[in-house]
Amino acid sequence: MNFVAALNDVAAKNLLTLEEQIRQAIGEDPFIFQACEPLFKGGKRLRPMLFLLCANSKSNFPPEKSMPLAVTLELIHTASLVHDDIIDTSKKRRGVETTNSKYGAQIAVLVGDYLFAKAFQLVAENDYGAEVSTTLSKLVKNLCVGEIMQDRSLYEVPTLSEYYTRINLKTAIFLSTCCKLGAIVSDMDRREVENLTAYGSSLGLAFQIIDDLLDFFGDEKITGKPRGGDLKSGVITLPVLRALEVSNEAAKLREIVTSGQDVDAAIKIIQATDAVDYCRTRAEAHIESARVNLPLTLKPSVARALEQVADFIVDRTR
Ligand code: FPP
Ligand code: MG
Repeated sequence: MNFVAALNDVAAKNLLTLEEQIRQAIGEDPFIFQACEPLFKGGKRLRPMLFLLCANSKSNFPPEKSMPLAVTLELIHTASLVHDDIIDTSKKRRGVETTNSKYGAQIAVLVGDYLFAKAFQLVAENDYGAEVSTTLSKLVKNLCVGEIMQDRSLYEVPTLSEYYTRINLKTAIFLSTCCKLGAIVSDMDRREVENLTAYGSSLGLAFQIIDDLLDFFGDEKITGKPRGGDLKSGVITLPVLRALEVSNEAAKLREIVTSGQDVDAAIKIIQATDAVDYCRTRAEAHIESARVNLPLTLKPSVARALEQVADFIVDRTR
């Protein structure tokens, strides 16, 4: 299912404005535009749409005020992906050649920095207040800590708790931040802010678990990136952890994942176990906990859309 199809009309209308403003934000410099526009085209816009839904989930927070922050979230996300692709020396992302592959790492570092700076320019120009700036700064710090943690433990088998810490830092905190910011700008009470934050966090854990599954079993034409990329670059994820626990070929699998060699053999070993079902069940449990945290005070149409976003997370193919 397409993410946008999971959203109601209000959200779909917002999406058009969002696209226009993303293009404006990256359009000041012709080279930057040329270098990153193809990458922006392939995104799902999950983060800004979550923010917009939450910002409009009680009363209607004016679109002209909410849009720059929505753009900021997509710019930070894309900046982090541009840098992530340098770190991983990835060649393909969202179905197109990565910035580092096309222009080299030097240019890609700067394109990422530019997007990042532009994101914070939009925040500075729009007077969202100290709590929004602090929340965004903490988000970026956490992204960096998560990425450093991942990089320092490549080709090492993490414990389940280390795996969860990592996916929390690199994904769950991002989605929870989007929801939290929506709740903050629309002046929700503390309880509602906490509940929407918890919704986003559970959503993020489910999202990353499905992402980790798609890395092994997704259709490359749909995911837009090569299969087995995580293992090749030494990132050991939940399907592997489960297979290491239950497979009678665990020793061979451990050898493969700690060397990054023969990813196809690893995929076969994982596939012969219940790892896919296990991961999906874990993701569904997080989605259930996301649903439980949705405040009852939201507008019914938005609450429905947020539930549909949750369904999309487990059903998604990219
Ligand atoms: C993709 O994850 C990458 C991230 C979720 C975060 C990367 C964060 C940084 C590089 C630090 C922050 C930098 C800035 C400029 C904000 P993945 O590698 O699991 O997914 P993939 O398979 O799509 O690459
Ligand atoms: Mg990566």
